Amino acid sequence: MNKFRIPITLLALCLTLSFSTVFAQKTSVQNIESRVETLLAKMTLDEKIGQLNQVPGDISTGTDVKKDDLLSQIRTGKIGSLLSHTNFQNKIIMQRVAVSEARLGIPLVFGFDVIHGYKTIFPIPLAQAASWDMGLIERIERIAAEEASADGQNWTFSPMVDVSRDPRWGRVMEGAGEDPYLGSRVAEARVRGFQGDDLAAKNTVAACTKHFAGYGFTEAGRDYNTVDMSDQRLHEIVLPPFQAAADAGSATFMNAFNTLNGVPASMNKNLITNILRGEWGWKGMVVSDWNSFGETIVHGAAEDDIDASVKCLSAGSDMDMAGGTFQRGLKKALESGRVTQAQIDEAVRRVLRFKFSLGLFDDPFRYLNQKRHDETLEKPEYRQVAREAAAKSMVLLKNDGGLLPLTEGSRFKKIAIIGPYADSKGDKDYMSFWTLGLGMRAYDSTKVVRPAQALKPALEKLGFEVTVTEICLDATCTEKDYSTAINAAREADIVIACVGERGLDCGESRCVASLELPRKQDLILSIVGRLSKPTVMVLFNSRPLVFEWANQNIPAILVAWQPGFETGNALADVLTGKVNPSGKLPVTFPRSLGQVPIYYNQLNTGRPQQQQGQMWTSGYLDSPTSPAYPFGFGLSYTKYSYSDLKISKSQYKMGETVEVSVTVTNVGDQAGEEIVQCYTRDLAADIARPVKELKGFEKIKLAAGESRVVTFRLSEKDLSYWNNELKWKADPGKFKVFVGGNSRDVKEGEFELVR
Ligand code: BGC
Repeated sequence: MNKFRIPITLLALCLTLSFSTVFAQKTSVQNIESRVETLLAKMTLDEKIGQLNQVPGDISTGTDVKKDDLLSQIRTGKIGSLLSHTNFQNKIIMQRVAVSEARLGIPLVFGFDVIHGYKTIFPIPLAQAASWDMGLIERIERIAAEEASADGQNWTFSPMVDVSRDPRWGRVMEGAGEDPYLGSRVAEARVRGFQGDDLAAKNTVAACTKHFAGYGFTEAGRDYNTVDMSDQRLHEIVLPPFQAAADAGSATFMNAFNTLNGVPASMNKNLITNILRGEWGWKGMVVSDWNSFGETIVHGAAEDDIDASVKCLSAGSDMDMAGGTFQRGLKKALESGRVTQAQIDEAVRRVLRFKFSLGLFDDPFRYLNQKRHDETLEKPEYRQVAREAAAKSMVLLKNDGGLLPLTEGSRFKKIAIIGPYADSKGDKDYMSFWTLGLGMRAYDSTKVVRPAQALKPALEKLGFEVTVTEICLDATCTEKDYSTAINAAREADIVIACVGERGLDCGESRCVASLELPRKQDLILSIVGRLSKPTVMVLFNSRPLVFEWANQNIPAILVAWQPGFETGNALADVLTGKVNPSGKLPVTFPRSLGQVPIYYNQLNTGRPQQQQGQMWTSGYLDSPTSPAYPFGFGLSYTKYSYSDLKISKSQYKMGETVEVSVTVTNVGDQAGEEIVQCYTRDLAADIARPVKELKGFEKIKLAAGESRVVTFRLSEKDLSYWNNELKWKADPGKFKVFVGGNSRDVKEGEFELVR
């Protein structure tokens, strides 16, 4: 990047000032269309194809690409957008070349993967979903947008709304889990957080909803693999969060890498043109995933760059990320008559419209202001939200005998904090691969508050004696290498074992064929177990893992996920009871890998199993069918009771609203937050329906002893499904309603829907 080292600060300032006056013509929705047409009329074919070309910068999240001299490509109008550029000054230089040296001065749009924070790192998206707190998620994305936009990014490749039922898939950490309803609410909250109510505002970024579609159902949990599914599953499970994001105004969508029922998603006309733009009436721009146009050739669905260009453009995709396929193939496709000028123009229109809506034509430097940059990144108050988010994401799975929280005056005196993640300085630990804004390889250990760093002083303040001993995770380590930690555990009254995954164990192309605690950590736990000390297992994870031994033998288990910068503080808050845990699993935790895919909204089968070993029923010889922990599950330091489930009538006419209410009481001795969940089951539709489907939830605060009536209102739409005639429709007949604090432990009632 030496080529960028020119005296830029002064230049940037002058340009910022001059462009804001020269281009200061207020963009309104009405005049965008005419400005797009005026510009389009001036563009050559090469310039048009250039607008459809997106080129990567100093970070690579895909296969290697050849990067010719970026500045000369920008100058000659060959690039419309850049992605993954971290250097602020370089963005100013590139924008300057685009607007003042290229013939038409069309500004660049800068895209970036802002996945769980930009500079301030929040818990991974799956963890955020475990908070079931849409206001919080929106606030997180608002901060991420503040930071990203102040650093010159205009566009985030987020939210990822892929529903997944397979924890082997590394990208399960980027989504909101297994449920389409929860996933839809999270999708909307993220879009609102990123985009605010004005895309052109200096502190917002455009959202890009991805990966359209089906990517989370990749076979065998292997990234980029085949996806094959029924129309029902596509419409009911996969598509709802995408539609919710589209309805919330997501400016752009991204294709997926996979084939869906044989057709690569980037050239899937049914998805992009028929469903997204047709049925849903969405008007935005679609970008490929990293070289996914080019990969249609590797899939064996396109012959060459020309064929791939024809197929992807004709399907409705607009911009080519990182592949250069359109650069090489689109012109020839036009010359040979396989695409029309009108098709290319339509894609270019969408790109230009997008740039206008971001306000880039009015002031190309509006997101490149040095002062705002310096004032905005990593504001201390963002840390507070990161801490709150991390604590609210944590899920308490077990707390036998009320071992937690650890408070003053406890019967225990000495605490041993042990384990590989007690105080790890490993690259991206407690975060993920997707913290690109920090710089790809530079782990800045000063940024993350590590568990022991915060937990030790917090516990000491409460009167405990605390030791911290790390455990090596090297493949060559043996029981002997664990001896210091084991001795510390032996000396203590209570053990906190920090185990789990590395930050780099999750994310794109980080799939696993085993869900056991990696790198012999089960061994560590079982050695500690032999000491028969009360033990708290803190799990740092990015996916549901399997830890049956711990489930049987360890009294307290807390899922901390990958919590981000405020890991230690949030953990201390939860373990000492400053924060009463309220997170609930957005995804089922299996007992074993063999149960995968396991999810709560399954069909009943004709032979559901009541108990293990029952022959001629749907089950296993060697395992129960039930999961280790069901969807929606999570404990608190207090207890809630559910009573008085009421359904306002026993019969409803189509179109009427079904009202379901329940009384929730905090029967414990401290305040807490409970996530009240409402599920339904359609008992006799025209096709078999899932045993439960989430239809609503509410997160409520209850003081000790307090009761609250929570009411859910279900419309006909809520009771409808994608039927065999390929339509959403509710059938008359009986329905069950379930309300509870998770998908398993519920109160139930019944009503009938009549014509
Ligand atoms: C991922 C996308 C990401 C893109 C740009 C791809 O490999 O699948 O989710 O937005 O890279 O980094």
